[in-house]
Amino acid sequence: MINQNNNGSKSKPEDRTLDQALRPHAFEEYIGQEKTKANLKILIEAAKKRGEPIDHLLLYGPAGLGKTTLAYIMAREIGANIRITSGPAIEKVGDLASILTNLNSGDVLFIDEAHRLNKSVEEILYPAMENRLLHIIIGKGPSARTLQLDLPPFSLIAATTRVGLLSNPLRSRFGATFRLDFYTLEDIENILRRSAGLMSLQTESDALKEIAVSSRFTPRVANRLLKRVRDYAEVKGEETITRQAAEKALALLEVDRLGLESTDRRLIETIIKKFNGGPVGLQALAAATSEELDTIEDINEPYLLQIGFLQRTPRGRVATKFAYKHLGLTPPPENENLL
Ligand code: ADE
Repeated sequence: MINQNNNGSKSKPEDRTLDQALRPHAFEEYIGQEKTKANLKILIEAAKKRGEPIDHLLLYGPAGLGKTTLAYIMAREIGANIRITSGPAIEKVGDLASILTNLNSGDVLFIDEAHRLNKSVEEILYPAMENRLLHIIIGKGPSARTLQLDLPPFSLIAATTRVGLLSNPLRSRFGATFRLDFYTLEDIENILRRSAGLMSLQTESDALKEIAVSSRFTPRVANRLLKRVRDYAEVKGEETITRQAAEKALALLEVDRLGLESTDRRLIETIIKKFNGGPVGLQALAAATSEELDTIEDINEPYLLQIGFLQRTPRGRVATKFAYKHLGLTPPPENENLL
């Protein structure tokens, strides 16, 4: 069975088990995001001292940086159970009402992709977050009545890749909001070293460097590439993962030294060749490349913006001179001034 994960890449079932094993379980094991970690530790300690649940929290940032992992770690540190769901999974008001009424005192409720909660579901969340009340409307029209149920103390941790899409009323109800940033190269190398250890792999440190460089500064991508490099070395009968093996495996996967994959390159090539470097709207780009709009927005665009290959303008996305250069192309003079 092959599943699409939210890197837009394929993941095998055995990889998903391994992903669980590689996930850090405590703050001490979690590498990077130092500021956020420091803040979360304070929140937890203060709440513990008061004997209260932690405030509702919002975590945002690009996919694969460890938002879910942090939620698990927090629940564990508090000694609470965690209930995991996501915006698209909560289709109806009744779905959320059922989740909320089944929470036990002190539980953590984690809602991933919170920007995809629908409006009526969101409205149930407001009194639940603010006053631990569940308002249920019974009946329709003039005879409709509102029933009010008390909820146990709980902490909501919401995560999103698109904080701008969250409504203001929802955003303002979180006690604290933290943004996860792309990791440093050093952090990624350390994460890879930890993962290689957990997988009992023998690795040259240059091999880990090579993988880190191509990881888009994203742990989930780094670990996925490590697994594929391990496959390559295994098939070639190499006991130690060398730099050459890593290079060859990454080349075979068409991942370049900036971590760009064929889809990323096709996107910038399309902007340059079909749209004369831009500006182009994401919808037009999705149609021209037959890629999913959500994947472009969540996976490709954040990294292309981060490395300065794309710029966002009010009229759409524009390819920068760095994008041209990477593809071995020359920007037209009118684009050169712009960027
Ligand atoms: N695996 C994935 N993300 C990680 C992180 N931030 N620290 C350690 N291991 C990880």
